Amino acid sequence: MLQGGSGDRDSFGSKFGVIAAAAGSAIGLGNIWRFPYVLGQNGGGAFLVIYLLFIAAIGIPVMMSEFVIGRRAQLNAVGAFKKIAPGKKWHLIGLLGVVTAFIILAFYTVVAGWTLEYLIQSVKWMATSSKIGFSEMNNEAVRGFFSNHYETFVSGIWRPMLWFVVMMFFTGYIVMSGVKKGIERYAKILMPILLVLLLVLVIRSITLEGARDGLVFLFKPDFSTIREAPVRIILEALGQAFFSLSIGMGTLITYGSYIQKKENLASTAVNVAFADTFIAVVAGLAIFPAVFAFGINPGEGPELVYITLPVIFQSMSGGLIWAFMFFLLLCFAAITSTISVLEVIVAYFSEQLNMTRKRATLLATFSVGVLGIICTVSPDVFGIFNASPDLLLPFGGFFIVIFVGYFLGGRTTKEELSSEGKYKVGYHQLFLFLVRFVAPIAIAFLFALGVYSRILSIFPSIG
Ligand code: PHE
Repeated sequence: MLQGGSGDRDSFGSKFGVIAAAAGSAIGLGNIWRFPYVLGQNGGGAFLVIYLLFIAAIGIPVMMSEFVIGRRAQLNAVGAFKKIAPGKKWHLIGLLGVVTAFIILAFYTVVAGWTLEYLIQSVKWMATSSKIGFSEMNNEAVRGFFSNHYETFVSGIWRPMLWFVVMMFFTGYIVMSGVKKGIERYAKILMPILLVLLLVLVIRSITLEGARDGLVFLFKPDFSTIREAPVRIILEALGQAFFSLSIGMGTLITYGSYIQKKENLASTAVNVAFADTFIAVVAGLAIFPAVFAFGINPGEGPELVYITLPVIFQSMSGGLIWAFMFFLLLCFAAITSTISVLEVIVAYFSEQLNMTRKRATLLATFSVGVLGIICTVSPDVFGIFNASPDLLLPFGGFFIVIFVGYFLGGRTTKEELSSEGKYKVGYHQLFLFLVRFVAPIAIAFLFALGVYSRILSIFPSIG
C-alpha cells in the first residue's frame, strides 16, 4: 500500500520537505569548505571533470540505492539490512556506517565550530572597523590579519573546543526534537537563502581585477596537472563526491526510511545531486577568481576558504555585514548536515538498541563530543579523521550497490523506484547496469590501484 511511515514512525511531510532535508544533508561544509580546497590542491579543472563524472555515474546510483533500501525497510541503517536480509551478514555495512558517522561527525562539527568563530569575529570587526577603518585597510593587511587569526585560532585549544561544544549541543537539540519538526523545518528555509548569498559573492569575485585566471583554473581542464599523482587525485575526487552527496554510510538509508511511499525516489536523488553539485561549483566560482585576483595559493589546504572569503568581503561595500550573514548561513548549512549524521547513530541506538529517542540522542551526542574534543586537541587525529571519508565512504558504497544490484535485484528495485507502478521507470535497466557493473567495478578498480600505488611507494623496486 502507498502510505507513510509505519506505526508511529516519523516521516517527511512533503515532497519539497524530502528534497530540502536530503539536500540539507548533502549541502554543507563539504561543498563550501572541502570542495574548493581539495580541488585547489588537485589541479583545478581536470579534477572538476573527474568529479562530475563520478557524481553522475556512481554518486546518483548509490544515492538511489540508499533511498531504496531505507524506504523499503522503513528502518535505520543497520535494521534495514537485518529486515531485508535476515540472518545474513549484510547489516555489517550498516554498522560500518554507524562507525563512520562517529568519525565524520567528530571532525566535521569541529570545522562547523570555526564558522561560529568567524561569525563572532565579524561582529567584533564590525565594531572596531568603524574606528580603524577596516574598508580602508589594504588587502595585504586584511589577509595578514585573517590568516594570522586563523593560525592562532585553529592552533589554540579552548576556543575551537568551545565552538565545537556549542555546535554539538545544537545538533543534539535539533535531532532530539525529531525528524519532521526539527530537520525539515530548518532545511526548508535556510538552503535557498544560502544560495542567494553565494551568488552575491560570485558576482563580487568574478568582477575583481585578475579574476579571469581563477575561471580558467576552475573550468579549463588541464590534465597534465594530475599527472603527478593520478591515482591519489582520482581517489580523492571519488571520496569527495561521496562525502559531498552524503552517501556510503547510511545517512540516506536513514533519511530514505522517512520518505513516504508515494514519493519518487529517482527524481529526488537527481534533484539532490544536482543541487549539491551546483552549490559546489558556485562555491568554486566564488572562491577561485578571488584566489587568483589576490594572489593566494589555490593549493593552500583546509584554510583556503577561511582566508579567501574575508578578503572578498573586505572588497565589498558593507563587507562585514555580508561576512556576518554568510558565516551565519554557513553555520546553518553545516547544522543541516551534522543533524543528518547524528540521525544515523540515533536511529540505530533507538531502533536497534531499544533506547528512547532522548536517551539515544544524549548518548550519541556525548560520545561524539568526546571524539570531537580529541580532534580539537590533536591536529593529527583531526587530519586522519578528515582524510578517512575518502576511503570509508566508497568502501561502504561498494557494498551498498552490490546489495541492491544483486541481492535486492531487478523486481524489488523496480517496485520501489516506481512506487509500485505509480511512476514510469524507463531508466531502470540503466540503473541496474550502473549498480551491478559500473559503480562496483570502478570503485574496486580504483581501490586496487590505490593499494598498488601505496605498495609501490613503499617498495619502489617492484615497479
Ligand atoms: N555532505 C555533507 C557536506 O557536504 C557532509 C556529510 C557527509 C553529511 C556524510 C552526511 C554524511 O557537507
